[in-house]
This record gives sequence, structure tokens and C-alpha cells, in this order.
Amino acid sequence: MIRLQNIEKVYRTSTIETLALNSINLEVAKGEFLSIMGPSGCGKSTLLNIIGLLDAPTRGDISIGEQKTGHLGDRELAAFRNKKLGFIFQSYHLINDLQVVDNVELPLLYRSMSAKERKQLATEALEKVGLSNRINHFPTQLSGGQRQRVAIARAIVGRPEIILADEPTGNLDSAMGNEIMEILMDLNRNEGTTIVMVTHDENMAHKTHRLVRLFDGSQVS
Ligand SMILES: Nc1ncnc2c1ncn2[C@@H]1O[C@H](COP(=O)(O)OP(=O)(O)OP(=O)(O)O)[C@@H](O)[C@H]1O
Ligand SMILES: [Mg+2]
Repeated sequence: MIRLQNIEKVYRTSTIETLALNSINLEVAKGEFLSIMGPSGCGKSTLLNIIGLLDAPTRGDISIGEQKTGHLGDRELAAFRNKKLGFIFQSYHLINDLQVVDNVELPLLYRSMSAKERKQLATEALEKVGLSNRINHFPTQLSGGQRQRVAIARAIVGRPEIILADEPTGNLDSAMGNEIMEILMDLNRNEGTTIVMVTHDENMAHKTHRLVRLFDGSQVS
């Protein structure tokens, strides 16, 4: 489903060069739930952003499904991302002056779909994460765990084949973290969604199919 070949990422500023990723080779099978761990600054978010086509590698190739991505332009990349990928970030990235249901609808705006259909799908996604009773709230009126569930609903509303999650339980207490983890495991088991999750929590990582460890930009296991 995901194939990375010899991925290298160098960040350059006027004074320093940081080798954030160093020849990463990684394949993720369809339906796999993979976790990525490693110390702060080792390149986890960089790797996830590259898999998610939000950032381009300095060198190397990425294929998602049958699609090679190297030659795609910005618009094609955006359309491809919108259709295939769902993102969940540690700090939720919700829009505070939009109601919950409108936040969840956002990925559908780029598809030809009536407002009624969008609302229907957003409501269903919110039901899946147990938030049907909060659809007209604003994000600031929700707890952290509820916000993260809104972010998950937004990630799944377009039925992406792949979900990329960057420390989705990082800001939550362990009970809420477990709940979020259950939702992700459920999506993986029941809908066959491929998931790549960055985490610093060994317990969460051990619930997934496979763990990749990074150190200083290199894969160590
Ligand atoms: N935009 C950038 N410009 C320059 N250097 C960057 C940039 N983004 C990240 N880096 C550097 O690349 C390295 C990897 O960063 P990254 O954010 O991927 O780490 P991480 O493993 O996600 O860390 P954390 O666990 O703290 O989130 C770090 O050394 C960081 O300083
Ligand atoms: Mg990070």
C-alpha cells in the first residue's frame, strides 16, 4: 500500500544542514497497522509528513497503492491526498470558529457532493466516534479527548484507505488515549484501513501489528 525507497530528507537553513531522514526503506501492506517510535527529533513527524505527501523528500521515491508520486504537481498531490489519505495530528488542528459537524465536513468540500450528503456523511463519522450529541458544539467547548475524536471523524469522513496519525493520544490521559486507540483499531479491523501511527507510548505501539524504531533519522529496527 505504501512503499518508500531510499528516502532522505535534508533541512537546510543558511547556517545548518540537518539530515532528518537517512535512507529509509519501508513497505506498509494494505490493512496493516504500523507504529513508529523513537526519541524526540529523530524524524518521526518528518517521515509521516513525507508518507502523507505533505512534504517532499530530498531524495528517494514514494508510491501509494499503484501511484508513483514523484512527478505529481501540487494540485494533483492535493487531490490524491484528499481522496486517499486521512490525517490526525497531536494538536487536533480543528478550526475553532466552525461547529464540530462543519469541521468534519471539510475534506468533502473538494468533492462533488451536495451539502445534504456532506452533512449526512459527517454525522455518520461523528456517530462512529461517539460524538453524535456534540455536532453543533464548537471545538473550544469540548474536552481534549472529544476534540481528538472530532479530528478522527474528519480523517475518516472521506473513507480514506490510509490514516496517518502523529501522536494521536499524546495529549490525552491514558483512559482517553485507550479509547482513541480502540477507535483506530476498530477502523483497522472492520474497515481494513491501513494505519501508520507515531507514538511515544510503548503500550499503544504493542497493540499494533508492527513497530518501526527510528534513531537520528535512520531506521534501527
Ligand atoms: N522545517 C524544518 N527546518 C529545519 N529543521 C527541521 C524542520 N523540521 C524538522 N527539522 C529537524 O528535523 C529533525 C526531525 O524532526 P521531526 O519533527 O521529524 O522529529 P520528531 O521525531 O517528530 O520529534 P518529536 O518527537 O519531538 O515530535 C529534527 O532535528 C528537527 O530539528
Ligand atoms: Mg513529531
